[in-house]
Amino acid sequence: MAAFLGNLRNVTIASFVLALLLVGLYGYVQGFDGPTFELFTLRWLHVVCGVMWIGLLWYFNFVSTPTMPKIPDELKPALGRFITPAALWWFRWGAMGTIFFGIVLAFRSNYLIEAYTLDLSQGMAGYPVVPKYLAIGIGMWLGTIMWFNVWFVIWPNQQKALNIDGKYPNLAAPEKAAAAKTAGQFSRINTLLSIPMLFSMVAAGHLY
Ligand code: HEM
Repeated sequence: MAAFLGNLRNVTIASFVLALLLVGLYGYVQGFDGPTFELFTLRWLHVVCGVMWIGLLWYFNFVSTPTMPKIPDELKPALGRFITPAALWWFRWGAMGTIFFGIVLAFRSNYLIEAYTLDLSQGMAGYPVVPKYLAIGIGMWLGTIMWFNVWFVIWPNQQKALNIDGKYPNLAAPEKAAAAKTAGQFSRINTLLSIPMLFSMVAAGHLY
């Protein structure tokens, strides 16, 4: 058991296998409905990736950043050289998986355009025509802005600040500090947006 639990890859595979057992239970109890199950699978993978992404965002903001000043100077490099770059890998690919499955889900649900246009695609008459499209549209815009911040602001600035992959070996200390500050501020902006974004995501399916 200890050997199994010590191997993250095997534990992750086992976790998906357990989920597959639940798929079997669903088919047995409910009867298998392909189209419903396809949308459900997209939704499920979307949330799995979203938890990876927002979990790490909140780790950075609620754990790592506030604890940094308490870490003795000689231990600080471990965070910047090893832990944060590894966390950033899962963070940005979690964001990519989330937006990918989210957009495919909206497309397969036949409301991608309606959502991204905040239900304005049919003009102002009787606006909003379908309130759910407005709700999920707000969530999708918030999530998309957050995704943009991850890939085009936080990640490039963290690469500079931490010299990830040895891309910026000769960057001067003030430039590193400026990059770290920008990354930190946009990470905080994403934390600000995360709660209303999640409200819209869940409300779209359960409040409207
Ligand atoms: C990045 C852009 C994002 C897009 C394009 C997107 C898109 C969507 C779509 C289309 C739905 C289905 C709504 C429905 O029909 O009921 C949804 C639901 C949801 N999303 Fe997102 N989303 C994004 C970001 C996120 C993030 C970052 C999270 C974080 C965990 C998240 C969590 C959820 C949750 C929990 C649901 C509700 C599932 C349910 O209750 O059925 N989304 N999203």
